[in-house]
Amino acid sequence: MGRVDGKVAFITGAARGQGRSHAIRLAEEGASIVAIDICEQIPSVFYPMATPEDLAETERLVKEVGGSIVTVVGDVRKREDVQRAYDAGIEQFGHVDTVIANAGIMPVIDQGVEPQAWHDAIDTMLTGVWHTLEVTVPGMIERGAGGSIAITSSAAGLTSIGLNTFPGQAGYSAAKHGVVGLMRLYSKQLAKHFIRVNTVHPTGVDTPMVANAEYGAFVNANPDVANDDAYKNPMPVELVEAVDISNAILFLASDEARYVTGITMPVDAGYNNR
Ligand SMILES: NC(=O)c1ccc[n+]([C@@H]2O[C@H](COP(=O)([O-])OP(=O)(O)OC[C@H]3O[C@@H](n4cnc5c(N)ncnc54)[C@H](O)[C@@H]3O)[C@@H](O)[C@H]2O)c1
Repeated sequence: MGRVDGKVAFITGAARGQGRSHAIRLAEEGASIVAIDICEQIPSVFYPMATPEDLAETERLVKEVGGSIVTVVGDVRKREDVQRAYDAGIEQFGHVDTVIANAGIMPVIDQGVEPQAWHDAIDTMLTGVWHTLEVTVPGMIERGAGGSIAITSSAAGLTSIGLNTFPGQAGYSAAKHGVVGLMRLYSKQLAKHFIRVNTVHPTGVDTPMVANAEYGAFVNANPDVANDDAYKNPMPVELVEAVDISNAILFLASDEARYVTGITMPVDAGYNNR
């Protein structure tokens, strides 16, 4: 018996990294998966983003653990893309009761004062989350069987961490704090429907967003960043694993968390408590 048997999880940004890990972990515990990812580069992002091959690999890995999955290439900045993915999920599985708003970008270096990075950060990680809520919530209310919404924020959604005040960094911080406000609003409004809404706040996670040559070169060229205590976790771990975030999301998705709503859950090796 899996911990989320029979549930259907709608996961944004699922081609790789944490989104892929969430898809596999929830599938291992019995959920069916609806996966959406942009699978192309956003020009303000300095590191390579996911590809269609990455999304196909997520599909293969979910099936490998015995799960069912439908994948859609789409951009959470466009509400119609999110709707298209949701419709594909409904057609395949009949309902969605678990939402994981995870898609994100980190356009925080090499962009100088380029304002487009601000818009891309806000559009993806704040408006994109709102699109995800707007598209998925009505069906959950109508079904009347409750549900779980987990929004991936960041340690940067609870504290002032950041590399600079470039537009992309400012957009990242604003979006990651902004989704806490969305979470609180929706959590309160949806409680009467037994739909729970929470945010998850990871410290640095070992995914291609940070484990990439471009970011490594930046850190090497800026040893003050690498040596700055502001970036260190109290528990002596540099980066946590994607599955550490997946296990928190799995708990929130499961009935074990049936009365957990409205919380900002850190998975951060103590970062928020320094
Ligand atoms: N990696 C970290 O250190 C870290 C720390 C805290 C929070 N986060 C957050 O975790 C989430 C997942 O990031 P990750 O670490 O797995 O990075 P990642 O780059 O490996 O994965 C992010 C995925 O989101 C997709 N995506 C980006 N913009 C999209 C859009 N507009 N529409 C649809 N898909 C889009 C990407 O293609 C990619 O597959 C993000 O919201 C990120 O901000 C990451």
